[in-house]
Amino acid sequence: MKVSIRNLNVKYMPKSKFEVNALKNVYMEINSYNFYTIVGNSGSGKTTLVKSLSALRIGKDINIFFNGKPLSKKYKHNKDLLKYKSDLATTFQFPDHQIFSKSVEDELKLIEKYKKIKINRDEFSSILSDLGFKNFDLFSLCPLIMSDGEKRKLVIALSIISNAKIIILDEPTTGLDPVSEKRVLEILLKQKEMGKAVIMITHNIRNAYSYSDYVFVLNKGIIAKHGSPEILRDKEFMKSVNLYSPYEIIGSLKRSET
Ligand SMILES: Nc1ncnc2c1ncn2[C@@H]1O[C@H](COP(=O)(O)OP(=O)(O)O)[C@@H](O)[C@H]1O
Ligand SMILES: [Mg+2]
Repeated sequence: MKVSIRNLNVKYMPKSKFEVNALKNVYMEINSYNFYTIVGNSGSGKTTLVKSLSALRIGKDINIFFNGKPLSKKYKHNKDLLKYKSDLATTFQFPDHQIFSKSVEDELKLIEKYKKIKINRDEFSSILSDLGFKNFDLFSLCPLIMSDGEKRKLVIALSIISNAKIIILDEPTTGLDPVSEKRVLEILLKQKEMGKAVIMITHNIRNAYSYSDYVFVLNKGIIAKHGSPEILRDKEFMKSVNLYSPYEIIGSLKRSET
């Protein structure tokens, strides 16, 4: 499985005085069995890139290729586009934007209907328990009453169980306690080892450095550098894109260990 993005340019409010060049001349290649991270400071275009990769922004210009075939809305009932969408699971930045049902069970049924798959409830329970959910009757639970962290973990579990070959996550660990954060990362690593392509956006440079096989550094809509996570250790480069390298101490410490 291979996804390529070629020469992707995204403008918001084009031809107006508010025009924003959110992505400029972006090239990417995504393969199975790989864990990718996208890092970049706020406003660098990460979420726009996630929307593009999730085929929400396919325009007339053909710029996403799935196993070598161009995905375009121009062709009605484009089978490759439908196949791509069914092979894809995206968890967006805000879980509230993608939970629609009044119970976890209903949410599973919705995915089964949309993806035309059967979800194994025991397997789903085991993912939830790996994520640290307690073993009470989760299926009847209303997602709306869950805490922010639980909602986040629920949408991650839903994307994993949905049989997707490409899992895209926009800041999945933001706001999670450190134990949950580690659990999420370990589960994603397992997904990669099972042959999936995992693409994670994160502000946590240490996690990007420790977990990913390949890193894209976005700066002002441009991929400033891409390659092995070792590129994150280049302090001068990281400073130039307003980021810190993985083990840099930020500011002066207020307390010492002694
Ligand atoms: N719907 C929109 N309309 C206008 N500008 C937008 C819209 N969405 C994002 N932008 C702008 O595009 C740029 C990239 O945004 P985004 O992709 O959300 O960045 P990030 O996720 O890295 O913080 C920012 O300057 C942002 O203000
Ligand atoms: Mg964002």
